[in-house]
Amino acid sequence: MTGGAGYIGAVLTEHLVRAGHHPVVLDRFFWGRKALAHLQVETIAADLREAREEWLDGIDAVMHLGGLSNDPTAEYNTEANWQMNAVATERLVELCKRRGVKRFTFASSASVYDTELSASEMERTPSMCDETTALAPRGAYSLSKVYAEKAILAAADETFAPVIFRQGTVYGWSPRMRFDLVVNTFIKDAVIHERLYLHGGGWMWRPLVDVNDCARVHMMALEAPLDRIRGQIFNVLEENYQIRQLAMLVAGSFALKDAQIDLVEMPLPKLVRNYRMSNAKLSQALGFTPSVTVLESIENMIGKLPPPEELANPQYYNVRWMTLLEEIHASQRGFASIY
Ligand SMILES: NC(=O)c1ccc[n+]([C@@H]2O[C@H](COP(=O)([O-])OP(=O)(O)OC[C@H]3O[C@@H](n4cnc5c(N)ncnc54)[C@H](O)[C@@H]3O)[C@@H](O)[C@H]2O)c1
Repeated sequence: MTGGAGYIGAVLTEHLVRAGHHPVVLDRFFWGRKALAHLQVETIAADLREAREEWLDGIDAVMHLGGLSNDPTAEYNTEANWQMNAVATERLVELCKRRGVKRFTFASSASVYDTELSASEMERTPSMCDETTALAPRGAYSLSKVYAEKAILAAADETFAPVIFRQGTVYGWSPRMRFDLVVNTFIKDAVIHERLYLHGGGWMWRPLVDVNDCARVHMMALEAPLDRIRGQIFNVLEENYQIRQLAMLVAGSFALKDAQIDLVEMPLPKLVRNYRMSNAKLSQALGFTPSVTVLESIENMIGKLPPPEELANPQYYNVRWMTLLEEIHASQRGFASIY
């Protein structure tokens, strides 16, 4: 598994170990190794861009989650993002084919459906994107995901059965926690500020999925008949929500614990995202039913939160942490980039 020490990867590693698999994690460990400390897993501390063919010896399946995982980190160094997310993925596929690795899952993103909308367009409910909807990637991150998807699909044949998962925004608790994803951010804001910020009223729609369900979907691809997944794309989500609805669910959960959380209206940002997607194909083809609702996940996260002062730790926020790493790295090694 690439990116096995990340937010989703750490949860997926746990699921794999519990199911009796023997994952090997290839990771740069940008966020450290703590998330895997409780598990006995083999690791390769290396950059994806330098993946070696011999690392695939004895490997039955590759789960590819590594790389830059959001817009801000990708925009921070677009060339590194391109090399990690697009070019390195294409190369990894070549290596898998050469070594006869048949199964390959790819963590793509719902942001490939993104469309630019004016404030008035945003007020209408967006139509439902399925896997055949025309893509409209904007920005370095989603462009690199689309390129990677195309390279993977072009390689599918009798010997190689890759599957692409377009994951909605993920929520939930992971041993490598992120508080820069919408639901998790609301929980953090509720604790630190006792208020949640709703940009443009928070009317925009987003597909969301729990981190355990997201991991389960990758696991399903290990067992599924090859003909059912070869060269297929699946949307991965529990449900579509309006941001406003998510804020109310978080505020409501805190209210049940006697904490009053205010909702604060903020101006509409320049970049507005508003899309919904369907998981019908995933449920029909692989029998997926989400097992964790956003409300259950919110309750679970609230129960596991670190102390408030710890919530400011930059490690929980991808772009803040990468910026810090970059500064430290540059000061120690001249101008060499961490990216
Ligand atoms: N979290 C979400 O909401 C979400 C939604 C859609 C898609 N995705 C995709 O799912 C995957 C995992 O996301 P996440 O939230 O776990 O991200 P994350 O940032 O927590 O984890 C990414 C992992 O990849 C590793 N990594 C990054 N660049 C690397 C490189 N060049 N070589 C080796 N390792 C490298 C990091 O060290 C980290 O452990 C990503 O591909 C992301 O684009 C995530």
